[in-house]
Amino acid sequence: MTEASIILGIESSCDETAAAVVQDGRTVLSSSVHSQIAQHAKWGGVVPEIAGRSHLEQIVPTIHSALSESGVDGSALSAIAVTSRPGLLGSLLVGVSAAKALAWAWEKPLLDVHHIEAHIYAALMSLSEWHFPYVTLVVSGGHTSLYRTDSPLEHTLLGCTRDDAAGEALDKGAAMMDLSYPGGPSIEKEGASGNPKAFPFKLPLMSRDSLEFSFSGLKTALLYTLKGPGGKRTDPTRPEATNLADLCASFEHAVTETLAQKCMRACEQTGIPRLLVGGGVARNTRLRNRVAHHARQHDVLATFAPPEFCTDNAVMVAGLGHAKLLQGQSASLDLDVAAR
Ligand code: KG4
Ligand code: ZN
Repeated sequence: MTEASIILGIESSCDETAAAVVQDGRTVLSSSVHSQIAQHAKWGGVVPEIAGRSHLEQIVPTIHSALSESGVDGSALSAIAVTSRPGLLGSLLVGVSAAKALAWAWEKPLLDVHHIEAHIYAALMSLSEWHFPYVTLVVSGGHTSLYRTDSPLEHTLLGCTRDDAAGEALDKGAAMMDLSYPGGPSIEKEGASGNPKAFPFKLPLMSRDSLEFSFSGLKTALLYTLKGPGGKRTDPTRPEATNLADLCASFEHAVTETLAQKCMRACEQTGIPRLLVGGGVARNTRLRNRVAHHARQHDVLATFAPPEFCTDNAVMVAGLGHAKLLQGQSASLDLDVAAR
């Protein structure tokens, strides 16, 4: 097989319906993302039933828009790649059903993609040349994990979160402060002018030698800070506006500094001086700055996914699909979905 490919990617694992056309795993011909944020915002998080129904409404228009924007006809595609795991089952089913129908109708190979591997591929897309192995951090609303990455399709888990994902902690922390969903961008915006040292939150699990994360204690610490001295206030409400900026900056600092330091620890323990960072939280400027700061000190080359491909998208799905096609790893039309 030659390396040339044009792949349609489809993503529907959580609250974004996305489709994209990517050439040779690198050149983005089109990318359409329909976000459901507005539909979930009033509930303070993703409601699976609402997500499934919204994917059902949006999947065909989103695929149509990606194909027409790319100018590529279905018959000219090399394959169709789709996220089949992990994610919300009802949401995954919509994307996978659409991908199967198109693969069958156009007689194209179907490629099943793992969502976390796709987030890692997004970071690889920032590099013009790959020098494996890498230490990889995937940090999103559902995942906070460190891997050793030996190729786009080979990842060995080094450590993950014992409880909340970093994005989940930011989302829940924001909800406690009455900030809008999703919490990561809200905290980033509110905390931009704040002092990150104003509230010295203890960095979780730093004293041990492990590469595991834990963010639930940090969330509790935020709750007690909001409740005031002695934790007496039963109704933690948003603090004074001046405090809010400091509190957001400090909480965001604790989360991002923990992530940055654990990345360096992983690089040190594995002896790999190259780091990749992907997933929704990788969009965060404070995280990018903290990682860059530590990476300079540790002589580590840190690479982030392009900001537009950090949160869920189908470019990363089509991209990883290219790697699978090169390996001859296609799926059959009875492909199933999996939550984990
Ligand atoms: O990768 P993603 O779109 O979905 C999952 O696979 O989970 O990540 C969504 C997560 C949410 O928790 C959201 O708050 C967080 O990414 N996020 C951010 C930023 N943008 C999105 N967190 C911090 N700063 C941001 N700018
Ligand atoms: Zn994701």
